[in-house]
Amino acid sequence: MICLGIESTAHTFGAGIINDKGKILANVKDSYTTEKGGIQPTEAKNHHIKVADQVIYDAFDFAGISLEDVDLISFSQGPGLAPCLIVGMEKAKELAKKIKKPIIGINHCIAHLEIGRALTECKNPVLLYASGANTQIIAYDGGKYRIFGETLDNGVGNFLDGFARFLGLGFPGGPKIYELALKSKNYIELPYVVKGMDVSFSGIQTNLKQKVDSGKFKVEDLSYSCQETVFAMLVEVAERAMAHCEKDELLLGGGVACNLRLQEMCKKMCEERNAKCFIPPNGVMVDNGLMIAWEGIIEYKSRGGDNLNNIDIKPYERTDDVKVTWR
Ligand code: ATP
Ligand code: FE2
Repeated sequence: MICLGIESTAHTFGAGIINDKGKILANVKDSYTTEKGGIQPTEAKNHHIKVADQVIYDAFDFAGISLEDVDLISFSQGPGLAPCLIVGMEKAKELAKKIKKPIIGINHCIAHLEIGRALTECKNPVLLYASGANTQIIAYDGGKYRIFGETLDNGVGNFLDGFARFLGLGFPGGPKIYELALKSKNYIELPYVVKGMDVSFSGIQTNLKQKVDSGKFKVEDLSYSCQETVFAMLVEVAERAMAHCEKDELLLGGGVACNLRLQEMCKKMCEERNAKCFIPPNGVMVDNGLMIAWEGIIEYKSRGGDNLNNIDIKPYERTDDVKVTWR
């Protein structure tokens, strides 16, 4: 069975192709970026409309197969930006109609977790999902993927992007902050905000802006301190969730998890508690179609497809709204 997965929750339009043995056939994407300023939903939507056909064409070209070889079409149903989600859904519907094959809508966050399980050795992990819009600690418990901790305001990626924007850097800002942070070891105290297993970034954001405006601090030092602080918060809540759930595997997911400093801190925490840290390839930690294709296959095998005529996007779907029927 071969599945084409389409991702379009936010800045990335992606098409992935995988078979039910887990053989990766293609994972192509095109992301909307800016030189200055953050993501505009309408512009991201227009970007997706513009690149959709080419990305899908490239995926088939890379895989060396054609649309007619596909047995199933999956797409990101949510959570995400509604204008962007609609582009992916319409494309998926169009293709499913064309080849008269089943369609299935997928929860984007769960797809991050399942692709990590498929491509690493981990079995029953706590997922630290650190992306642009989402920051969640997720683990399987009682038939659902439950959120044990999460951000009370921004996702950590959006927070980093916001800070970068304030410094006049473009989008995505995470990698730019990372580069600046490498140039410093001078820690400047920032608020550290962990409440139980939840985290919050807005106070840190305000504090950072005040420090930038004061002109008293070097951006390298602020970038370094910003990373050290917010990553320590993420590692703390991930560790607490691992202890609470009695799990000894940590899996990373989301674009911010590509950050080598965050990875280093996670590995250290796991080592100290005799647990294992699993880091999938960057190409499936950032938003991608491959994870949507894989989640499509495993869900289709357990619950079948969705109805093409009344399927819709779910911009606000939460990880724990989904009944896990496949494990
Ligand atoms: P989601 O829809 O899953 O919430 P998303 O659409 O924002 O996420 P991702 O590709 O998972 O997409 O993550 C993008 C985020 O990752 C951006 O905020 C970007 O700044 C951040 N990012 C990417 N690479 C790095 C890095 N090396 N260090 C820190 N942040 C990074
Ligand atoms: Fe994502």
